[in-house]
Amino acid sequence: MWPIKFVSTSIGKKIIMAISGLSLILFLCVHALGNAAILVSSHAFQTYADALHSLPIVVFLFGLGLLIILLFHIGFGITLFVENRNAGGGRYAVNSRVVQNSFASKTMPYSGLCILIFILIHVFGFNNGPSGVEVSQLVKHYFSNFFYSIFYIFSFCALALHLFHGFWSMLQTLGINHPRYNNGIAKLTLIVPAFFLLFFGGIVLYFLTGLGASY
Ligand code: HEM
Repeated sequence: MWPIKFVSTSIGKKIIMAISGLSLILFLCVHALGNAAILVSSHAFQTYADALHSLPIVVFLFGLGLLIILLFHIGFGITLFVENRNAGGGRYAVNSRVVQNSFASKTMPYSGLCILIFILIHVFGFNNGPSGVEVSQLVKHYFSNFFYSIFYIFSFCALALHLFHGFWSMLQTLGINHPRYNNGIAKLTLIVPAFFLLFFGGIVLYFLTGLGASY
């Protein structure tokens, strides 16, 4: 059957990694857009969260879709890593990158593992907060805690590192690569991870530093 043939090839797995990775980046964009309401006011964020939870079927299907995509990304990522290691590591070495990123590419499974642990703790935390505390106040509750905030910022650094290589690798697999545009592409592979690090990290620091005291 062709799907089995497709996923058994190296390029098939790389394409699945690229498409699932792109979907996860799109999720991050949507999530960042929703979280931007935090920067408006606690009322705006609560209104957004309430609107979301008034559509339980949509939330359920969205979460299920996300979980399936994440499992594909992790499963094929581990398979590619093991295959690559058994092949001596040379198969995916690409030297044409303008910004060299050997540290980010070598640590992909570890930065990925950090993100996975973060997601488990994050989703559990926001679904099991102290009773009676609304989600908008939960953000302030968690990020006023020094250790919780440091854990978040560490995880966002791991996310940025993962995206630094992953975003570039995705563009290569999808064929978005041309000597004429590689400088622009190199800039984009820095801008995208930096944006998520600064945006999500900024929310944490907003509360941690006390700037969001009146939130
Ligand atoms: C400061 C940054 C962040 C804040 C304030 C935040 C906030 C939240 C909140 C409040 C929820 C629960 C939404 C609800 O059900 O009402 C949530 C869910 C979630 N967040 Fe975050 N988040 C942040 C960063 C991230 C990052 C970086 C990731 C991924 C790497 C992430 C992944 C998720 C996932 C997977 C869910 C569950 C989505 C679902 O159930 O469909 N979040 N987040």
